[in-house]
Amino acid sequence: MSKYLATILLLAAAQLNASIAVIPVPAKLVPQAGEFRLDAKTRIVTDELARPAAELLAARLRSATGFKLKIKSDTAKAGDDDIWLVTDGAGNPESYMLSVTPQGVVIHAPAAAGIFYGTETLLQLLPPAIFSAKPVTGTSWSVPGVEIADAPRYPWRGFMLDVSRHFFTKPEVEQVLDLMALYKLNTFHWHLVDDQGWRIQIKKYPKLTSVGAWRDAIGFGLDPKDATAYDRSGRYGGFYTQREIREVVAYAAARHITVVPEIEMPGHSSAALTAYPQFGCPNIDFAVPAKGGVFTGVYCAGNDATFAFINDVLSEVTPLFPGKYIHIGGDEVVKSNWQHCAKCQLRIKNEGLKDEKELQSYFIRRVEKLVTAHGKSLIGWSEIREGGLAPTAALMDWIGGGVEAARSGHEVVMAPTKYSYFDHYQSTNHTQEPLAIGGFLPLKRVYEFEPMPVKLAPEFQSHILGGQANLWTEYIPSLARVEYMMFPRLCALAEVNWSPASARDWEGFKERTGVNEQRLAAMGVNYRPLAKPE
Ligand code: ACM
Ligand code: ZN
Repeated sequence: MSKYLATILLLAAAQLNASIAVIPVPAKLVPQAGEFRLDAKTRIVTDELARPAAELLAARLRSATGFKLKIKSDTAKAGDDDIWLVTDGAGNPESYMLSVTPQGVVIHAPAAAGIFYGTETLLQLLPPAIFSAKPVTGTSWSVPGVEIADAPRYPWRGFMLDVSRHFFTKPEVEQVLDLMALYKLNTFHWHLVDDQGWRIQIKKYPKLTSVGAWRDAIGFGLDPKDATAYDRSGRYGGFYTQREIREVVAYAAARHITVVPEIEMPGHSSAALTAYPQFGCPNIDFAVPAKGGVFTGVYCAGNDATFAFINDVLSEVTPLFPGKYIHIGGDEVVKSNWQHCAKCQLRIKNEGLKDEKELQSYFIRRVEKLVTAHGKSLIGWSEIREGGLAPTAALMDWIGGGVEAARSGHEVVMAPTKYSYFDHYQSTNHTQEPLAIGGFLPLKRVYEFEPMPVKLAPEFQSHILGGQANLWTEYIPSLARVEYMMFPRLCALAEVNWSPASARDWEGFKERTGVNEQRLAAMGVNYRPLAKPE
């Protein structure tokens, strides 16, 4: 090959790559010659199963292009200039194949989820301006020729949002869901309950929200103007009605996201106990000092009424969430009240427990039976292993225990502080960053996150469901700040959980992240620019 020809080919390849910047990177992607041009005459041809994805796609293409694309039902008669969505074949329901030629776009998948992911990839193959909410003129809506065969590495690709420390409205939560879906994340862990606010309506216990959803002020030493979640009397907070919860769950489901609610217990329960102090240890202040100078509430583990209350709450929570798991928290339980409570000590004696750690295990096992009776599975943080892990429980590993749990046959989600705590700073120069809780989690570290623990033998590896990032919001009082902590780190998290380990490529990822900034900018997302020094 002449030097000249080699240069031309290299340039052509570079151009192809410049226009293909899909995140997470597909398992297999082969650029092809030519391109498909979307115009007002393009039709979306779909079968019944793929129709919801077709409708979402048409709506999303319309904002920027202004095209009102026709949706046709007869996949047998599709012709040129069409986008086909065809559900067929067998395999991983989240997998898909996408083919782009000058004649059209074809997405094949065994199920609706895969079709949806194919459409997310298609959007990322279009110019970034496609993500604009307003009509864009002067752009050629072309899609580079490509053959893609794609499937996820892990079935759990999660993101946790804490709506207790600060409240985020239903439209704000839906914005987070849209951003998750764009990068093929499929599990939204909704941290609905903590010391600083109870956020889900429970009809049998109205004070959980009339009292527990509100506090006097924004708290955490923040400027009151940093948030908007105030009621008419100036109290800070808010909650979701059960109807709103259902709507968010449906919104998520349309984007193939499962919502995992977290109803935190036995610790982090001040909001519930402010409303119903009778479920704390009798004659002892339920609020005990925790790390960071804050107070945390702990339910009484010796009082049967506590478990009746929890069962009532679960009776209303479980029907709202069609997914398998209910997260019950279980982290950072301060056990001093249990040491001083006659009821808790009697429980330890009567149940033949060794200490308060075993009392915690008793608590979780008892709640596990309730969760199971409601047809769900329990998942909890690392600490639920203390005193013995409940038999059917899944573990969310933030400070260890995942390897041991997987070895004994439990399902595990990896969310280690070192790689996935998005409340940590993105720079060591704090003066140029919005206030954060501390720590340092740069983009590259997230990209180095390996959900599969190296110490775990192959026969146990299927118990690792995948990984997730956690966004605790003590210092994050607005959606703009949520977005800043999410991006671009969420893209790295998405890639390490979706793409094959062999496809990991930091330099390539950075390049694609540069293109992705244009998408986020088109959407008005407040991302942290790659060029900003760490
Ligand atoms: C946690 O970060 N306390 C689970
Ligand atoms: Zn007690």
